[in-house]
Amino acid sequence: MIMLGNKSYNERGCLTIAGCDLATLGQELGTPLYIIDEDWLRQTMREYRSAFARFYPDSTIAYAGKAFLTSALCRILLEEGLWLDTVSGGEFYLAMQSGFSTSRILFHGNNKQEQEIDIVFNEGIGRWVVDSEQELDMLLNEAPRSRKGKLPLFFRITPGIDPHTHEFITTGRVDSKFGLPLVEGIAHRVIERSLQSGLFEIKGLHCHIGSQVASLDPFLKTVDAMVEFMVAFRQATGYIFAELDVGGGLGVPYLDEEEGRFPTIEEYAQAVSVRLRERCRKAGYPLPHLFVEPGRSIVNIAGSTLYRVGTVKRIPGVKTYVAVDGGMTDNPRPILYGARYQAQIVNRFPGDGARESFSIVGKCCESGDVIIPETVMAPIEPGDYLLVEGTGAYNYSMASNYNYLPRPGVVFLSGGVARLVVRPENWYDLIRRDITPEELQVGEQTATE
Ligand code: LLP
Repeated sequence: MIMLGNKSYNERGCLTIAGCDLATLGQELGTPLYIIDEDWLRQTMREYRSAFARFYPDSTIAYAGKAFLTSALCRILLEEGLWLDTVSGGEFYLAMQSGFSTSRILFHGNNKQEQEIDIVFNEGIGRWVVDSEQELDMLLNEAPRSRKGKLPLFFRITPGIDPHTHEFITTGRVDSKFGLPLVEGIAHRVIERSLQSGLFEIKGLHCHIGSQVASLDPFLKTVDAMVEFMVAFRQATGYIFAELDVGGGLGVPYLDEEEGRFPTIEEYAQAVSVRLRERCRKAGYPLPHLFVEPGRSIVNIAGSTLYRVGTVKRIPGVKTYVAVDGGMTDNPRPILYGARYQAQIVNRFPGDGARESFSIVGKCCESGDVIIPETVMAPIEPGDYLLVEGTGAYNYSMASNYNYLPRPGVVFLSGGVARLVVRPENWYDLIRRDITPEELQVGEQTATE
């Protein structure tokens, strides 16, 4: 039993994270509950910063907020000196409201909306990432409306690299809904038109090939493809890009048995940095300022989900179903991507005694609502607390209210202290937006007036 992250058993035999007793936390705050080990999270952010400071000092780490974003997280990013990558007006708004400086925000999206343009044009932005030619046409019309000067632009290129990860989280192949294709000179044309307009501050290029990438090779090929494009663009136009964003995507282990199978942050930083220097030197290209946009590799291991076991259903000769009080609503990744997880009993040390095979399932009305199809663990009983590990990324941010289940709250743990940063939803939150018969009548009157 390795246990991902900063976990240990205390003298009561209960599992702790960052010095906090999880069984007590479950009793006090209720379950399901998203838990973030703040010490681990900050440590990982520092690891990214120091690795890049060492191998490529002229660089910026922009955390990808889609992985997990709350106001408290934005404040930590500020304190740790990271930028933030956002992908919607909602993420941008949350960051702004939490006091995050908009000049450190990147704004992505393959279908940006008017409301999103408005908020960015009013509040300013660190880098706006152009994703299509249609978007450029729109920007050419709207650019004069910007209240914060010329829009600083990145252009997202689809470099045609296959990262060999799950199809749903592959983004950099030629066939992709994201970015400007290199084929038929589309990317080239869009950038040239932007330059000629004189309306923007052209900062550089962006790419992102996919997520949960397990080896360095696809990242290196991406650097090659991007430098090749930069060099060709320079040859054709004389223009030199000052910045290059290579996206996120570094994979992480979800299971004990996957330990050591993924490049470390240090190895990733070194490989990308060395390759970029080497390619630029060969081509006589000035070294660009480097951006990276990690999400999962910053937050996943720091996060886990605490559940309480309800029904334990034994089907003789078949299997034993252990049902917890959450499921695909707080963790849709198993049903979406076949993602695999591991769990630990929290309220008692498992010891070396008997082991049983279980299927850990959720409480949603859907047979596919399975968190762990099969796991061998010490006997589990109703009322036990169960921790599913490595749920920091793309769980909270992808949670739903299917079956009208309230979404769990989020607690940050640091140095033995628990801090609730998002309160759990309650049933009232679920009906808050429903229009009551009284309101409906008013609405109807207004509509027919
Ligand atoms: N930058 C861009 C432009 C992205 O689209 C993404 C992720 C990232 C950075 C961060 O990638 P990361 O370092 O987290 O791999 N819901 C899926 C993952 C979707 C990833 C979307 N883009 C999952 O649960 O696996």
